[in-house]
Amino acid sequence: MLATKTIVEEIQDLKREKNAILLAHHYQETEIQEIADSIGDSLELARRAQSFQGDVIAFCGVWFMAETAKVLNPERIVVVPDKDAGCSLVDSCRADQVRAWKAKNPGYVIVSYINTSVEVKAESDILCTSRNAVDVVNSIPADQPILFLPDINLGNYVKAQTGRENMKIWPGACIVHATFPARRLTAAKLEHPRALVAAHPECPADVLKMADFIGSTSALIDWCVKHPASEFIVMTESGVSHSLHKLAPEKTFHFVANENCNCSECPYMKMNTLEKLRDALMTLQPRVELPLELMERARLPVERMLALR
Ligand code: 13P
Ligand code: SF4
Repeated sequence: MLATKTIVEEIQDLKREKNAILLAHHYQETEIQEIADSIGDSLELARRAQSFQGDVIAFCGVWFMAETAKVLNPERIVVVPDKDAGCSLVDSCRADQVRAWKAKNPGYVIVSYINTSVEVKAESDILCTSRNAVDVVNSIPADQPILFLPDINLGNYVKAQTGRENMKIWPGACIVHATFPARRLTAAKLEHPRALVAAHPECPADVLKMADFIGSTSALIDWCVKHPASEFIVMTESGVSHSLHKLAPEKTFHFVANENCNCSECPYMKMNTLEKLRDALMTLQPRVELPLELMERARLPVERMLALR
């Protein structure tokens, strides 16, 4: 009698059959990260999508990341296991609001975080991620006024790092990082006095003030792994613990719970499951489908960012 295939075997077979690649963000469930062809932060995954030569990208992350992959691969199929895997930052800033903001501030350059809809990207001059936001702003002439959207915490951090006075920031926030309370970090530091603090720049300013290192998802992981210290408080989504424990099994990592769920998980990222991934590869749905003209307008700011090294 033939043995039934495991779900992982089904996914591997479907991947071969469809000539697909499996990209996963660090916040995905462990079992998805385990079978991914590439795991990364949003910049690394955009670069991976840009160089992809096959037919199908199965994007295990949130919808805006898959849209970016589609903009870079208009002729390829991009699927996401759960179509509702959104992002509070994307929801905080609509394209019509951006157009009104631009109209009120003529002559400003629009720097948009990658956590935006494709329609907002199409209104932007250049994109950034948490990894390159400071470099992107520094690449713009110092006397050029900037509209930065939609993350207020990342915007304030970039403003402080670059010393740009002429930068207006949209008041959007991440429901995960922006609700990490500084008092819980203070309590964690008292409980683990030897631990160093690594924080994502979407955290509130009072949390960032206490951090020994601030950086994107992958930058945080690299820093904790390479640093000689052995104990860390990690102020980001707890999915990163998978890579941290794999790359530095001898070290200890603590996570701080946010106010919303008393956990450190992104509810959108966790919507994707192995079962939904298998079904997405089988049916090639839910699929990112976007008008060509919109993708063309959104590609320019994405490519401007990717051209910066
Ligand atoms: P990274 O680019 O650091 O992966 O951030 C993406 C994100 O959504 C953080 O919440
Ligand atoms: Fe969006 Fe925050 Fe989730 Fe990242 S962690 S995808 S910014 S809601």
